[in-house]
Amino acid sequence: MIPRAAIEEILYRADIVDVISSYVTLKRAGSNFGGLCPFHSEKTPSFTVFPATKSFYCFGCGAGGDVITFIMKTENLDYPSAIEFLAQRVGITIEHDDRASKDLINRKRVYEMNLEAAKFFRSCLFDPKIGEEGMTYLKSRGMSGATIKRFGLGYAPRDFGMLTDHMRRKGFSEEELITAFLCGKSQKTGRAYDYFRGRVMFPIIDTTGNVIAFGGRVLDDSKPKYLNSSDTPGFKKSRNLFALNYAKDDCAEEIILCEGYMDVIALHAAGFSNAVATLGTAITSEQARIMAKYTKKVIISYDSDEAGQRAANRAMQLLGEVGLEVRILKMNGAKDPDEFIKKFGADRFRHILKQSKTGFEYKLEGVLSRYDISVPADKIKASGELCSIISEVYSAVEREVYIARVAECLLLSPDGIKNDVERLRGKKMREQKKLESREAMNSAKNYGDRVNIDSVKNVAANAAEEAILGLLLTYEEHRAAVANGKVELSTDDFFTSLGKRMFDAIMELQVSDSGFEFSLLGETFTPDEIGRMTKYRLERGQLTRNGIDVLLTSVDKLKKEKLHEQEKHGEDKFAALRRKRQSAVEQKNKNL
Ligand code: UTP
Ligand code: MN
Repeated sequence: MIPRAAIEEILYRADIVDVISSYVTLKRAGSNFGGLCPFHSEKTPSFTVFPATKSFYCFGCGAGGDVITFIMKTENLDYPSAIEFLAQRVGITIEHDDRASKDLINRKRVYEMNLEAAKFFRSCLFDPKIGEEGMTYLKSRGMSGATIKRFGLGYAPRDFGMLTDHMRRKGFSEEELITAFLCGKSQKTGRAYDYFRGRVMFPIIDTTGNVIAFGGRVLDDSKPKYLNSSDTPGFKKSRNLFALNYAKDDCAEEIILCEGYMDVIALHAAGFSNAVATLGTAITSEQARIMAKYTKKVIISYDSDEAGQRAANRAMQLLGEVGLEVRILKMNGAKDPDEFIKKFGADRFRHILKQSKTGFEYKLEGVLSRYDISVPADKIKASGELCSIISEVYSAVEREVYIARVAECLLLSPDGIKNDVERLRGKKMREQKKLESREAMNSAKNYGDRVNIDSVKNVAANAAEEAILGLLLTYEEHRAAVANGKVELSTDDFFTSLGKRMFDAIMELQVSDSGFEFSLLGETFTPDEIGRMTKYRLERGQLTRNGIDVLLTSVDKLKKEKLHEQEKHGEDKFAALRRKRQSAVEQKNKNL
């Protein structure tokens, strides 16, 4: 339990615009701020931050809440951890009520375990007997002693129980070791055994210095080549980058993004200390956002094979979406950066870094290589593809530059290309808008409402509920009127089970010693549900009449609908079924 005073202090100090700005590019729109929603993919901004109510809401996907909800969603944390996260950001220490968040303890414990394991692996590597094979392998890959030490590399012996025994002696339970993916559990005996065996070990360290996971490579060609820790309470692959702990101080200008651990280590050893890699998975938008916090430009240096280039395309898109300048490195004569540096040296690598291409040049080359532009039909196709690529570009200036470039390559007039680009752009925007508004309409009719699954069963009752909850969430006097019985309303009057839960929670806070506070609802409700409540509040805020008469009318409506429902269910159940089937048939006919 986190003391309420601490939560209030954090809410007071953590400026929501400021916090959200470090994840989303916000533009002022009147007294609010708008931007592209970080929780669903969209091209026209429907994400809004309301400084006055210290809340945010996305009109596209319905995500919403306060600064705590935002952190829960972006950092994928539970309520107490999100508060802890914000506390750190605004510089306050939380005095725990005593039962500190379980998650936080787990996380700390995992880090302690990993640190101990990393030390164990390192001492094995440097042990002349146990670590000989591992050390020989690393040396054969051209690693110096200094590099091995800097990256904290280690060796996991072939034995099934050396680490397990060591860790048990250090006071870690088998259960804990299994949670941290340092041990597996034998199907037969149920006993723990070392997860990593006969592998050179790469500790993965976060930017605050915690050992959060390991990757381990075999010494030969056996499979799997790399074994990685799975996600643990202290580690999510999708939101960490290998070697960012070293790169972070040297990457304000650019980051070199690689596919493999070995590439990163070879680059650092050759003096490129701004290299990072994903952790054995394709890049995620979270990782892209993390990079955007540290740098302006990312040079994608993936393997030169087809798979690598496909992955580069995807990376280019994700990195571009978070506003990073993207370059793509082209390597000839080597499979990956590690091999390139071994073969041609650091200077040559520096040279090809300088020649890395912008995303657009890269795509342009791709298109040009597929067509023979001296053939008119091909030229038209090439131009069509390139116009389509340019039409996706957000900045008008950038479009202008690309149009000129394409005109030059295809020997066409810029005006003609510009016309095509703008026409395509208009069409795409219209389609996008249509799609987004259709989604909005569907959700308005409560179809596919996963947050409040009962809402579709009685749209009128649900509307009344939403009005009531919106009023109660916004106005102290209405909550008081319900609490002291002036307005007769109880949990049973609500129709949806979500509505019941919300009403209960609001009133419980209202009658508690310290009173109602929206942010505290985050402890009980999921971020999606908080988003829903934010919507109710917002809808009331946009209306001018929010007095007690509106509350009373809505309560009346809700009670009537509830009564109807009961009568309906009292009548012939089969009649309802028949109606439903009939309307399904009609719907089908309409579609035909
Ligand atoms: P690569 O096979 O390109 O690895 O896979 P590498 O780093 O160049 O390895 P070497 O040079 O053969 O030693 C790229 C990355 O994909 C992940 C690892 O993170 C690796 O660094 N990977 C690969 C796995 O997680 N598991 C595997 O079995 C293979
Ligand atoms: Mn390699």
